[in-house]
Amino acid sequence: MQEVRGVVARSKGAPVTIEAILVPDPGPGEALVRVQSCGVCHTDLHYREGAINDDFPFLLGHEAAGVVEAVGPDVSDVAPGDFVVLNWRAVCGECRACRRGRPWYCFTTHNATQKMTLADGTELSAALGIGAFADKTLVAAGQCTRVDPRARPEAVGLLGCGVMAGFGAAAFTGNVQRGDTVAVFGCGGVGDAAIAASALAGARRVIAIDLDPTKLEWARGFGATDVVDASKTDVVEAVRALTDGFGADVCIEAVGHPAVLEQAFYARDLAGTVVQVGVPDPSMTIELPMIELFGRGGALRPSWYGDCLPSRDFPVLVDLYLQNKLDLDRFVSETIALDQVEAAFDRMERGEVLRSVVALEP
Ligand SMILES: NC(=O)c1ccc[n+]([C@@H]2O[C@H](COP(=O)([O-])OP(=O)(O)OC[C@H]3O[C@@H](n4cnc5c(N)ncnc54)[C@H](O)[C@@H]3O)[C@@H](O)[C@H]2O)c1
Ligand SMILES: [Zn+2]
Ligand SMILES: [Zn+2]
Repeated sequence: MQEVRGVVARSKGAPVTIEAILVPDPGPGEALVRVQSCGVCHTDLHYREGAINDDFPFLLGHEAAGVVEAVGPDVSDVAPGDFVVLNWRAVCGECRACRRGRPWYCFTTHNATQKMTLADGTELSAALGIGAFADKTLVAAGQCTRVDPRARPEAVGLLGCGVMAGFGAAAFTGNVQRGDTVAVFGCGGVGDAAIAASALAGARRVIAIDLDPTKLEWARGFGATDVVDASKTDVVEAVRALTDGFGADVCIEAVGHPAVLEQAFYARDLAGTVVQVGVPDPSMTIELPMIELFGRGGALRPSWYGDCLPSRDFPVLVDLYLQNKLDLDRFVSETIALDQVEAAFDRMERGEVLRSVVALEP
């Protein structure tokens, strides 16, 4: 057992606080990781606001890279000293999805068995089973993916959530191919990663759509060929005008809003694909004429974590980063200390950053 600092959301809507937390030694199937970096993701704020569930107190943070410090007795995939990116879908290998050879859909992903606690023994719920706004965290060994240690933790840690989700939404769920036209709705970290993946895949046109001109400017930096300001323009018309009047082959919704999903649906060419990667809140509904669903054909595809397999994809994306083909540094708007997470939530809400990333002292 070790005592370290962690960022905790104690109750619904209350500002987060730095607390002493107790981290158990790794048991079977577990790994203890010394955290080097952890990005501030919208989902952390959702937890703090009670929008995910009511299992307070939460230990926040889940876009992390670090070094394995110790492993449980039966763990052989990772070892102390390994540089790893943490993931929130450690596949089980045994559920009906895994058995059918579709592990990216795994229905019973693994987390650490033991709980981290506050100093008084109160059990913490780790955000997405990670909890990495902390000097150290305890995870399932399968949540650790070893990658090239020459990579900068602040950059590659972002693969742990938003960047992988967006990249995979385009590359895997949307299956963007050379010559495709792509429209990405919402240019935060997730949407920009989808833009980068589409550009890397050889898309002919990559149309970025957002309400915020600054976000659109940043989207160009990730490879958008055209931008549409949704606050000023009819988005569906604009996408059609940029695609010879037809609509895009792949439309990616990276906001989590029913009106935007509807735009994505109608901005698509016949037989095209809509990818839903933005997370809706439980009250949201959509209504579509069935004839439009049928008549337009193609596919409507929700994307969990970009249909990624961390063990397959993290090392590849880290290599692309090290070869300067995927600019992960561009997602890092600022590095901050552990006690600045609350302020980073404000900056995120004001749209001033793509990612604030906590960098921890060695
Ligand atoms: N599916 C997954 O596995 C997964 C993983 C991580 C994040 N997400 C989700 O992806 C979404 C995006 O995450 P993010 O970190 O990029 O968020 P973000 O808040 O940084 O970005 C959202 C962007 O959408 C823009 N926007 C808002 N309303 C819009 C509208 N009506 N039209 C066009 N643009 C609009 C905002 O200006 C902002 O730039 C969130 O819903 C998040 O929860 C999903
Ligand atoms: Zn499984
Ligand atoms: Zn996240």
